Amino acid sequence: MQRVLIVDDEEVVRDVLSRMVKALGTAEVETASDGQEGLEKIRNGSYDMVFTDLRMPKLSGFELMREARTISPTVPFVVVTAVSHLDAAINALRDGASDFITKPFKFDDIKKVIERVTREYRLLKSLNGSNGRGEEAVKILTSEVFRKLQEINSLFSLATEIDELKDNRKILKSLPSIIAKLMKANTVVLLTIEDDHVVPQVYFGKNTAKEVLLKGSVFEKITRSDRHHLIEIGENDPFGNGRLMADMLIVPLSLHGEVFGFILITDKVDGYRFNENSINLVLTFLHKVSLTLENNALYDLTYSNLMNTLKSLILTIEARDLYTRQHSENVTHISLQIADVIGCTQEEMDALRFGGYLHDIGKIGVKDIILLKPGRLSPEEYEEIKKHPVIGDNIVQPLGSLSLERLLIRHHHERYDGRGYPDGLDGERIPRIARILAIADTYDSMTTTRPYRKGLSHQVAVDEIKRCSGTQFDPEIARAFFTTPTGKRGLRDED
Ligand SMILES: [Fe+2]
Repeated sequence: MQRVLIVDDEEVVRDVLSRMVKALGTAEVETASDGQEGLEKIRNGSYDMVFTDLRMPKLSGFELMREARTISPTVPFVVVTAVSHLDAAINALRDGASDFITKPFKFDDIKKVIERVTREYRLLKSLNGSNGRGEEAVKILTSEVFRKLQEINSLFSLATEIDELKDNRKILKSLPSIIAKLMKANTVVLLTIEDDHVVPQVYFGKNTAKEVLLKGSVFEKITRSDRHHLIEIGENDPFGNGRLMADMLIVPLSLHGEVFGFILITDKVDGYRFNENSINLVLTFLHKVSLTLENNALYDLTYSNLMNTLKSLILTIEARDLYTRQHSENVTHISLQIADVIGCTQEEMDALRFGGYLHDIGKIGVKDIILLKPGRLSPEEYEEIKKHPVIGDNIVQPLGSLSLERLLIRHHHERYDGRGYPDGLDGERIPRIARILAIADTYDSMTTTRPYRKGLSHQVAVDEIKRCSGTQFDPEIARAFFTTPTGKRGLRDED
């Protein structure tokens, strides 16, 4: 009987894991609920394998491994981790752990890990024995370790590559080439389910996949089981191209628990077959990818919810003042026209698109009696109004990740000559998008009819912007404005 120690501060994990290990019938199990207790047990008994969590009170999994090595240098450690902490698990492997398993784990995974680690441990032990066999064992073990290290390194860098692509569409687009790299495969295809068909979308290598009916196909089976499927060399090609000349691995992709597509891998560079290691590698990687997809989808949803909330806030302000109802929309529209002429970056365009709507959001904090006052404002009232860019900045601040939008909101009343508010920035110190919006804002305010005054004509507004160009406005951006459809013909008369 082997002796296995399980160290984890979560009782459920200890429980499930011990039951699975015991069910194998080859090991007896002991448990410890933190690193310190685990270390005591290792000191007082000998174990053939240790499963350990990484984050634990008293002594972390990393510290436990380090300390345990001074007592029992060869005992193999298997790290138990959440997939979201895969990076930590990879570090643990670099630190000498034999393998890792991710929560929630399946019985099959545990079985495989124990078998593999036991095999390696026996090899290592036999090194101390007969000479001839020892050398052979070293060779096998070194190549095993080398292979695993290579895998880990590519997993790590590819997982980082995926994390850096924040956009799900971008991830899916680059997935085939990344997987081809990871798996050393000549052909990788991403297919998605569209209505009742499975449609190839992105290829790496040659394209042998075709659109097929989901019903009755191998993809239907994979969708139902939500498990990968290996079609071996010599079996029928799922796209009706005769018999397969190489193994084909198909892995389902899912979002919110529903399979939406597949990754198909075939034509490995280093042979025609897939082995258990390479399958495990791509499954681990795709597991990580689907978590990233879920996270991004959640983020997108939160982001659009947020934007809707903010837009409805804007509508609330505008509802207080019917005459400015269209204002935010017009300002956004004109700003984008100017940005187009200047050739702004995608980030600046996005910031103008959302920030344009939000630029006056701080007016929520200005009293109705001042905001809605017809006619001239007293100096005190004007001071109140002047607070709205800072109030707006403060409203948006806790939402995070809207840094350009915040700059736009805060600085849309700065002047090119530095005499604006709230910070008195001048020239190029004012963010470019705020210099753009300032012109769009002024143009729309001048030409809009208010309860207390009729709107100015297009020509008068343009002349006024020309006159203030170089003092209130950035002259270059003003020039760009004059060439936009609004600048040429007026907002209401453009095509
Ligand atoms: Fe404003």
